Amino acid sequence: MRNRVLVMHGINFSALDRRPAEHYGGLTYSQLEREITRFGRELDVTVNCFQSNYEGAFVEELHKATDYADGLLINPGAWTHYAWALRDALEIAGLPAVEVHLSDVDNREEFRRVSVLEGVCIARVAGKGPEGYRDALSHLKDAFGG
Ligand code: DQA
Repeated sequence: MRNRVLVMHGINFSALDRRPAEHYGGLTYSQLEREITRFGRELDVTVNCFQSNYEGAFVEELHKATDYADGLLINPGAWTHYAWALRDALEIAGLPAVEVHLSDVDNREEFRRVSVLEGVCIARVAGKGPEGYRDALSHLKDAFGG
């Protein structure tokens, strides 16, 4: 049964609790991980979390992802808006992926409306805070065939 999900966070998530609470809710990255793991238990999917502030490390983890994951939740942070190498790496991984953002990226600054992941993810969830990860896991579960 396919049910292993790798949740990937990119740049600046390690300092999540120091970022504007109106967009990110003031929670720590560890709290976010715990929430996502709890959603995973509820939905009966196995969650593994990875975070890096280094684009190369993030890409290398994507290259390895097929060894231990069936699908991806991906929130690259600001890389979303300009780091085209992530799109290529996601194509290489070839796994079903859902793009997630805590904040409502389409209704903030203009530069946040561009996503390098457009067209290579099966779904996108934004602006729902941590709850959005539950929706994203559900999308993946559907892609796994329930
Ligand atoms: C973010 C949105 C990005 O625009 C921003 O640079 C982040 C977080 C989000 O989860 O809302 O770092 O990906």
